[in-house]
Amino acid sequence: MASQNIKILGIDTSCDDTAIALLEVKNSNFKIISNTVSSQVKIHAKYGGVYPFLAKREHQKNLPVVFEKVLRILGGPTSRKILREVGPLKIDFVTVTVGPGLEPCLWQGINFAKEIAKKYKKSLISVNHIEAHILANFISEHYGGPASIVFPAVALVVSGGHTQLVLMKAIGKYKLIGETRDDAAGECLDKVARILGLGYPGGPAIAATAAKMVGRRVSDQLPRPMIRQKNYDFSFSGLKTAVLYKVKKGNYDKIEMCYEVQQAIIDVLMHKTIKAARDFGVKSIILGGGVAANEELRKQFDYKLKTLNYKLNFLVPPKNLCTDNAAMVAATAYFHRKDVRKNIKAEANLRIS
Ligand code: KG4
Ligand code: ZN
Repeated sequence: MASQNIKILGIDTSCDDTAIALLEVKNSNFKIISNTVSSQVKIHAKYGGVYPFLAKREHQKNLPVVFEKVLRILGGPTSRKILREVGPLKIDFVTVTVGPGLEPCLWQGINFAKEIAKKYKKSLISVNHIEAHILANFISEHYGGPASIVFPAVALVVSGGHTQLVLMKAIGKYKLIGETRDDAAGECLDKVARILGLGYPGGPAIAATAAKMVGRRVSDQLPRPMIRQKNYDFSFSGLKTAVLYKVKKGNYDKIEMCYEVQQAIIDVLMHKTIKAARDFGVKSIILGGGVAANEELRKQFDYKLKTLNYKLNFLVPPKNLCTDNAAMVAATAYFHRKDVRKNIKAEANLRIS
């Protein structure tokens, strides 16, 4: 395999997005040729969360459609019957997320990836979704040149399913140093949005409502769970309960509540991440995952890190690479391209270390 110009087909169906991407790696530059995501938001919105078996059915329906879109970009055949027509596929290998995620959803992507790899005689690389959220930071077009992470680093992966702090010595050398003991930060935002009748996904809805707070007095009425504890763990279910309690009592302001919950989450995430960075003496802080698309979180992290008395590199992917996508999966597979395995299977509870 030539190491100078590699094309990778990535697939992710770990939750409610059907994502297929085509990534080109040329002289350490990661260039996205296609990053296609078919969202199921409208389907799950009425339930206020993701229903795994509904998501599985949608993935099954969407995968061939999304694949066809990507093939068109590649200049390949465009028929819906594409999987039955073995034509040349101008890629070097196929990669798929195997976990963590919703098992029935993961299997849809894995079986589809296996089928493509077999039909087109390409090797198949498995990817950890959490690592992919971190390595999304390598997709360099955002930086206008080859992106690099200065190690050691602390990565905060903050999404609908996970809130984890990962110590990175190098690519592939990870230690999970902290995680949520109950709800993930995104899950908390989704649940609070549901309580406040703001729809799904909750993160963007809460952020938009919180933005209307400009110029108003802030009361800091919600707790900052575990912020004073000496570990790197999180807990967000109490925050949701605190909101529920205030809503049940009545006499609350929706804009203020959104602002408060978002700020409480930001305070805890920043405090614990910076504490970990100091304690382990790292050189970089890296963000990833859907909640890292939050404008306030990005702004406040950037500002805070500039005011510290020691320098830390700060990396966060562009917003479309924070939420679930397959370009990040392809980028991750590039680093593991020698690790070709047989019998790839869904690993719903896959850990990073
Ligand atoms: O990474 P992701 O797309 O899927 C998982 O792996 O879970 O993250 C989805 C989560 C949801 O909880 C959603 O509410 C949250 O990310 N999210 C945001 C924003 N965009 C998505 N939270 C805060 N602000 C946003 N702009
Ligand atoms: Zn994710």
